[in-house]
Amino acid sequence: MTFRWPTLFLLAATVAFAEPADPRGWSPGQKAAGAARILAGPDREGLPELELPKAFAKQITGRTLLFYFSPTCPHCMKVGKEVGDLARALKPAGVEVIGVATGSSLPADVQAFRAEYGLDFPVEIDEKGEIGSAIGARSTPSALLVEPGEKGKQRIVDVWYPYQPGYDIYVRIRAAKDPWSVFGGYLGNGSCVGCHQQESEGWALTHHSVAWRTLTTRGKDTDPECVSCHVTGAGKPGGWSTDRPDLTGVGCEACHGPSGPHDGVRDEPKDACATCHDAKHSIRFSLERAVPLIDHYAANAMDDETFRARRMAVVEGQADRSLVAFPTEPTVGAEACKSCHEAEYAQWAGSPHHHAMQTLRDAQKEGQVDCVRCHATPTRGGPTPTELSGFRVAEAVGCEACHGPGQAHVEAKGGTENIEKLGDDCPVCVIEAVCTSCHTSEQDPDWDLEKALPKAGHGAR
Ligand code: HEC
Ligand code: HEC
Ligand code: HEC
Ligand code: HEC
Ligand code: HEC
Ligand code: HEC
Ligand code: HEC
Ligand code: HEC
Repeated sequence: MTFRWPTLFLLAATVAFAEPADPRGWSPGQKAAGAARILAGPDREGLPELELPKAFAKQITGRTLLFYFSPTCPHCMKVGKEVGDLARALKPAGVEVIGVATGSSLPADVQAFRAEYGLDFPVEIDEKGEIGSAIGARSTPSALLVEPGEKGKQRIVDVWYPYQPGYDIYVRIRAAKDPWSVFGGYLGNGSCVGCHQQESEGWALTHHSVAWRTLTTRGKDTDPECVSCHVTGAGKPGGWSTDRPDLTGVGCEACHGPSGPHDGVRDEPKDACATCHDAKHSIRFSLERAVPLIDHYAANAMDDETFRARRMAVVEGQADRSLVAFPTEPTVGAEACKSCHEAEYAQWAGSPHHHAMQTLRDAQKEGQVDCVRCHATPTRGGPTPTELSGFRVAEAVGCEACHGPGQAHVEAKGGTENIEKLGDDCPVCVIEAVCTSCHTSEQDPDWDLEKALPKAGHGAR
């Protein structure tokens, strides 16, 4: 009997602390975390004091940003222009910038770097490596915000090891009297990740993060018909343009508005969906189905390896496209369509799709669900069934495998709102997504929509 009370207590504790499911359908038991800590700042007590070489330290008379770099390092080149702009933006806030080039830097290279990226702050070459070792710089580029301390030492306000593109906002937030005054206009995802890491990682696992790549791989990134929904803030002041590569893809601000809610304007993110997910570019879009699929907490419980694998699957186009799944309604079978769509029926009856189960029979695989799932029509929409009884094997790949469940359409004796037409406004946005749910790169490596459509459509093209 000695275990009784502790056991009961543990049970009670488990019940009391069980997290409720997230109403949005996102990973349960998670909440937005971390952002407030960054604004409040790291624990200053914990940051060491610096002792910079005397001659160099003389230049530090007030708050100063030290930018540690090498003029030949590619990562430094990537942020060169940003840091030049940052230095000018910091001046009104009373913050000076001093460049520290690594000991091996050649003066000519430093000169060229300054000219290339428009740096108008002084740059010191750290010939003996004394400054680098005093600041404990581990890699280039790095940045430290410092101010004069006691007894000729310097106090560290914040460090960015390494300094990455988009970090200018964090420096400006640190330097500003009112941190929120820094927000305004489209900033790009790089400006959100530092404070919203979990949402950024969750986002990186959605296809929104690769929406621009979808266009570049098809050579459509210069087509004005295409870019508007595959970028952030198209047509809005300060939104996407060809000189804002940081706003390609469907970024945070596509849903949360410029600067997120931090400029005082809170956009309702769910209102943004329909501007891109309209009937011609998305299959029967609904918030109930779609919001759980953009789970901002998806990456939280993942180990690094799983996260990387999932991210690669998204980038390489191998990840599931659950949004393309049709609504969970019963299908009725091709015979139910015949009377009203004779021409389409006749064309389909002679097509390879109608013979796809014969192909499996010839291969003696007609009993294998993992083959049947692409060679037959499910008995209802939604997630792919896992049992043979979940498929209409007699008709193989039937009408509703492409057009979605037709029960409501048949009951209403036709109509256009209750069946998927497979819009011709953006065949690649909708039709290709349906086809490639079966014509995956693994099963059909030579897939080409333009060649396949005339063969699988109904003779109209
Ligand atoms: C300096 C840190 C910082 C940066 C940078 C930042 N945020 Fe935030 N954000 C916060 C804090 C603090 C909150 C309050 C909630 C919290 O504590 O997590 C917040 C809240 C939010 C919320 C929720 C507000 C609500 O009404 O529910 C959204 C959405 C958001 N941020 C979007 C963004 C986006 C988009 C960006 C990039 C353009 C961004 N944030 C950049 C600190 C930051
Ligand atoms: C700026 C346009 C735009 C907005 C706004 C937008 N989307 Fe999308 N969405 C896209 C594009 C483009 C894709 C396809 C990306 C690709 O695969 O290239 C997509 C894909 C998706 C997918 C499939 C993602 C996946 O990983 O399988 C879901 C789910 C989705 N969107 C949900 C939403 C929701 C929910 C909202 C609103 C809260 C929304 N979208 C707002 C353009 C947008
Ligand atoms: C009105 C907004 C909009 C426009 C304009 C638009 N798209 Fe899309 N696109 C979307 C949305 C939304 C999705 C996601 C559909 C879904 O998953 O339901 C998408 C998905 C796609 C996909 C599917 C990704 C995949 O791998 O299956 C491709 C490819 C694509 N778009 C290419 C294009 C091309 C090419 C153009 C120009 C002809 C274009 N889009 C114009 C909104 C748009
Ligand atoms: C496709 C649209 C979309 C994109 C892109 C998007 N979000 Fe969200 N975000 C949402 C929706 C929808 C909610 C939930 C709003 C609600 O609670 O009703 C949300 C909620 C949030 C919240 C509120 C706190 C929370 O987690 O519950 C934060 C913070 C946030 N998003 C930050 C970001 C950041 C940072 C990015 C970019 C890395 C981003 N979001 C990209 C649609 C989007
Ligand atoms: C009782 C007759 C009838 C039956 C049965 C029927 N349809 Fe239709 N269908 C129609 C009519 C009428 C239209 C044209 C609606 C219009 O253009 O106004 C139509 C339109 C369509 C469209 C084009 C939708 C659009 O947005 O333009 C598709 C796709 C379609 N049907 C598929 C099917 C499929 C699949 C089945 C079997 C599950 C089926 N139909 C059964 C009468 C029928
Ligand atoms: C439910 C899965 C599924 C869907 C959805 C699907 N297909 Fe197929 N498709 C197949 C299978 C399986 C075969 C092989 C049939 C056989 O020969 O046994 C096939 C064969 C074909 C063929 C003939 C083979 C060839 O290479 O000439 C073409 C063309 C084709 N599909 C085009 C399309 C197009 C276009 C779409 C979208 C509009 C589409 N398919 C949608 C499963 C599907
Ligand atoms: C992800 C969907 C998918 C799955 C799973 C699938 N198939 Fe297919 N299968 C297709 C598509 C699409 C085609 C048409 C390919 C083409 O046109 O090149 C096809 C074509 C075929 C063909 C005829 C073309 C050829 O390659 O000779 C055979 C045979 C075949 N599949 C057998 C199988 C068997 C056996 C399995 C189970 C081990 C299977 N399939 C699982 C989608 C699938
Ligand atoms: C492999 C996918 C696929 C299958 C299977 C399929 N369709 Fe279609 N259907 C399409 C595509 C793609 C379009 C639009 C482009 C076209 O007409 O080629 C379309 C268009 C239609 C339209 C609209 C025609 C118009 O002019 O607006 C009707 C009606 C239709 N299909 C009925 C059917 C019926 C009935 C069946 C079954 C007997 C069927 N489809 C099977 C892919 C398919």
